[in-house]
Amino acid sequence: MRALLTGLGEWGVLWYRELSRRTDIVLAGASDKNEKTWDKIQDKGNCKFFTDAASAMDELKPDFVLNAAPPDAHRIINDLAFDRGISVLSEKPIAVNWDDVLHIVSRANAGQKLMIAENYRYSSRCRTIKEILSQNKPGNLTSIKIDFNRRHFMENYHKEMLNPILLDVGIHHLDMLRYFTGCEFKNIYTDFYTPAESWYKGFSNAVMCITMENDIKVLYNGRLDAHSNETDWYANWTFTGVNGILRYQNDSLYFDTGGQTEQITLPEDKNTSFNVILDEFTAYILRGTLPQTHISDNIKTQSIAQAAVNSFEKGKVIYVD
Ligand SMILES: NC(=O)c1ccc[n+]([C@@H]2O[C@H](COP(=O)([O-])OP(=O)(O)OC[C@H]3O[C@@H](n4cnc5c(N)ncnc54)[C@H](O)[C@@H]3O)[C@@H](O)[C@H]2O)c1
Repeated sequence: MRALLTGLGEWGVLWYRELSRRTDIVLAGASDKNEKTWDKIQDKGNCKFFTDAASAMDELKPDFVLNAAPPDAHRIINDLAFDRGISVLSEKPIAVNWDDVLHIVSRANAGQKLMIAENYRYSSRCRTIKEILSQNKPGNLTSIKIDFNRRHFMENYHKEMLNPILLDVGIHHLDMLRYFTGCEFKNIYTDFYTPAESWYKGFSNAVMCITMENDIKVLYNGRLDAHSNETDWYANWTFTGVNGILRYQNDSLYFDTGGQTEQITLPEDKNTSFNVILDEFTAYILRGTLPQTHISDNIKTQSIAQAAVNSFEKGKVIYVD
């Protein structure tokens, strides 16, 4: 299967490495508007480099485009691919602007193949936690607390984003909530802010109160401009159930019940999410098996992010259909 990678920024370079490693994929080309980014690739192999994504598609006729351009360029790259009948594996979020989201979804609904690389849920960490939750160790969940705390300096498109805490990172955590619980959202109330000590232009902090199906109550507290006490990118999670509490905290997992704490050994966190995504995506292209984060599923995650924005703008609880 022949691939074209668009965007050779911080994340695109990682995709370049992962696509090059696959034996079932030929990385035929890479395109970035900025020629200087090509210098970041040491082993260029047989990959052809372009500044213009449309010319790259016309010349290489790839089976799929891996869209690792900034979020506000996702629509234009997807359209170029869809106009040529080329399938797309796109980075998250679907888009920044809701009109762009709806446009991209309508193209997919009209028959174009699109998966969103919402990678956190595909990590070995998240898959292990999901497995333990599925074994019902804490019992039926009643509440979930998520604490995300990073000291993150953004150098690229993030700098100009209006809501980086939500659309750049929080969207992964919202997606993880759906993945871990198997439940959808019922309502959401949010606040976004940028504290005086922040170096961010856009919102760097989020507080979200959510009710999910089965009446699971969720409290999310996230920040990107922490003084210290950083969590990992997955965030710290406290799952409270009728039998006890499952806690994921800085790469360790604990189960608390009846005043006792048991540590659960987590397997080494191998960086496998790229491969699992590519496995699901290639199965979709070759055999039509819908991937977990097919656009028809990922739109539910993005819709929650949009409901979070609506809640903030209107200052009220938003009920999700
Ligand atoms: N899943 C994750 O954990 C994760 C982490 C980082 C980034 N991402 C996602 O990856 C995407 C890229 O992020 P990044 O950090 O690499 O951004 P970046 O700004 O570092 O790189 C984007 C690159 O795309 C290029 N570009 C812009 N418009 C283009 C176009 N029309 N055609 C071709 N190239 C174009 C830019 O020149 C730049 O080199 C974003 O959607 C982001 O949300 C995901």
